[in-house]
Amino acid sequence: MLDNLPPTSSTPVSPDGLNAGAPHGPLVVIFIEEGGGDWHAKRLKDAMERRGARVMTSTLRACSFDTSLASGIDIPGLGGRLPDGVFVRSISKGALEAITLRLGVLHALSASGVRVWNEARVIERCVDKSTATFLFQKAGLPVPATRTAEGRDMALAYAKERLPLVSKPLFGSQGNGVKRVDQLDDLPGEEDVGGVYYLQRYLRTPEQANFSDWRVFVSGGRILGSMVRQGTHWITNIHQGAHPQAANLEEEASELALAAARAVAADYAGVDLIRDQLGQLQVLEINSNPAWKGLQSICEVDIADALASDFLTAVAAQTVRNEAVV
Ligand SMILES: Nc1ncnc2c1ncn2[C@@H]1O[C@H](COP(=O)(O)OP(=O)(O)O)[C@@H](O)[C@H]1O
Ligand SMILES: [Mg+2]
Repeated sequence: MLDNLPPTSSTPVSPDGLNAGAPHGPLVVIFIEEGGGDWHAKRLKDAMERRGARVMTSTLRACSFDTSLASGIDIPGLGGRLPDGVFVRSISKGALEAITLRLGVLHALSASGVRVWNEARVIERCVDKSTATFLFQKAGLPVPATRTAEGRDMALAYAKERLPLVSKPLFGSQGNGVKRVDQLDDLPGEEDVGGVYYLQRYLRTPEQANFSDWRVFVSGGRILGSMVRQGTHWITNIHQGAHPQAANLEEEASELALAAARAVAADYAGVDLIRDQLGQLQVLEINSNPAWKGLQSICEVDIADALASDFLTAVAAQTVRNEAVV
């Protein structure tokens, strides 16, 4: 963390995100996972600094609302001043109250004119798989047949006629807690899903032995990179042992991924696409805080640098808007 920072400046940044040469670049905070050591955050910080930004890292847990400050928001090290931009790598785990508070801080930063990537409303839409699915459907994108249910009885009533299904935690990631429901007994207990079921048609065939899906990384309305995730288990997250492979992304998949990001208004996102039994691409989910280590291993674009460039360009545009209002 930086101490004794010079006053926040509104230095213009050139369109490719490089500092235009004024004494201070934009002041940026990256919110990282508690415990630190994030490979992604380190690369992002280095890339932003190379592009002239002054970068602090902090956690959302360490931030407070405080009525004694004119801004009302205390980010460690800033003494009540606000940064020009905030990049959210992680909001970190916590109880409902903690997550509500941290999202509240992000909402407040946006409302105070700070450019936040991704904004709280985007994180909320993506973290809740059911809202993301709803927004994809509303945008006319193909999605697997999906239904939510509160309580096991409602889930059983839906599942009865529709096996096999996939059950996912509403707030899951990296394949954790994703389960196939081949028979009704496979339905997880209410305690495992917080009483809320997210049930989806299983899109593979029983004969399949090799599985793949697409991860497409979108930033600033363009595709930075994509990979096929290939494995012998039907859950093809890299975290679950699948391997990243380079492959040319078809036009249809590109358009779907970009449209999915637009549907939730994400500045950057990881979009999962999967082919169903008929070979039709479906939008499976979107991640508003995507990792890119696996993708970087097979991709020529420097993802951290491209993200830093897109983000700093957005921060500069916001600064210009803020100055126009004043
Ligand atoms: N409906 C489905 N049918 C078949 N496989 C699925 C289905 N949903 C998810 N999967 C597999 O499980 C993985 C994890 O699911 P996903 O919805 O992306 O959740 P997570 O947020 O945990 O990554 C996917 O990448 C895919 O391989
Ligand atoms: Mg996924």
